[in-house]
Amino acid sequence: MTSQLQDIANAMVADGKGILAADESTGTIKKRFDSIGAESTEDNRRDYREMLFRASEAMRDHISGVILFDETLRQSAKDGTRLAQIISETGAIPGIKVDKGAKDLAGAPGEKVTEGLDGLRERFAEYHDLGARFAKWRAVITIADGIPSRYCIDANAHALARYAALAQEANIVPIVEPEVLMDGAHTIDRMDEVTEASLHALYDALYEQRVVLEGTILKPNMVLSGTECTSQAGVEEVAERTVKCLKRAVPAAVPGICFLSGGQSDGDATAHLSAMNAGYDMPWKLSFSYGRALQAAALKAWGGRSENVAAAQRAFSHRAKMNGLAAMGQWRNELEQAA
Ligand code: 13P
Repeated sequence: MTSQLQDIANAMVADGKGILAADESTGTIKKRFDSIGAESTEDNRRDYREMLFRASEAMRDHISGVILFDETLRQSAKDGTRLAQIISETGAIPGIKVDKGAKDLAGAPGEKVTEGLDGLRERFAEYHDLGARFAKWRAVITIADGIPSRYCIDANAHALARYAALAQEANIVPIVEPEVLMDGAHTIDRMDEVTEASLHALYDALYEQRVVLEGTILKPNMVLSGTECTSQAGVEEVAERTVKCLKRAVPAAVPGICFLSGGQSDGDATAHLSAMNAGYDMPWKLSFSYGRALQAAALKAWGGRSENVAAAQRAFSHRAKMNGLAAMGQWRNELEQAA
């Protein structure tokens, strides 16, 4: 079992490849569709995602896996082919978001804990039958006056580890995602401190709960200045501080780290990743698991209209290629202009 998990995890961070996070919940995809004036119907959600998965060259060359929402894993394209099969045919691995979202944490105003553990063993069995070979669980840590509390960090780490242990039992690689939000006026120092504390708590919990690190992938935030902070760190500082923070807290047994984009601009998400890979030696592969930073341009180009599918696929393919290069430290800004 362990070597199978390890093979999947290694494939998820193959050279020059990363993960497409297309697992927006029904509420989140509605927000994205609202931004382009498209209605969030089951058919529109299918058509939009089918457009991405059928960008076959980008998928084959730069995408190792796709995180899906429950609906999408069960959905078929207009021609009847299952969307998961379209993904597999490009060589990418289908994955599934299994958490039920971040809910208010009792007794901790302003803080969240992620739910979804009840019945998860049975859900994993079904998801494996449906073709999912990895999964994702996202915890949300907010920085503000007096928070995060130790209680919030530990409650989320415990849930992440319980999820990861159940995933491995079902032969599914868990992506563990303790997201420290970039929203807020906090400094990069504060982001650094909270990210490191969250990662230490996570790896303590994974150890206690007997999770095999070789069969996991970490999906962290980068260490950034808060969006409202008056002083914004540049690319080199973000790269240096993020790598240093990860080296302090993430065991070398972890095969790969795939960042979330978290609201960074497309260009920043790519530039930061490339600077880390170009500038530092690291014990793990460092790649992407972007949602917005891979999809924003494509979503806009699509605009909910079938006649825009080819243009949207070009926009998606470009970002996939740029991030694939960044995963090898080979992205340069000139390549953006050239396109
Ligand atoms: P973003 O890259 O848009 O942050 O989404 C990644 C993701 O899957 C968050 O859980």
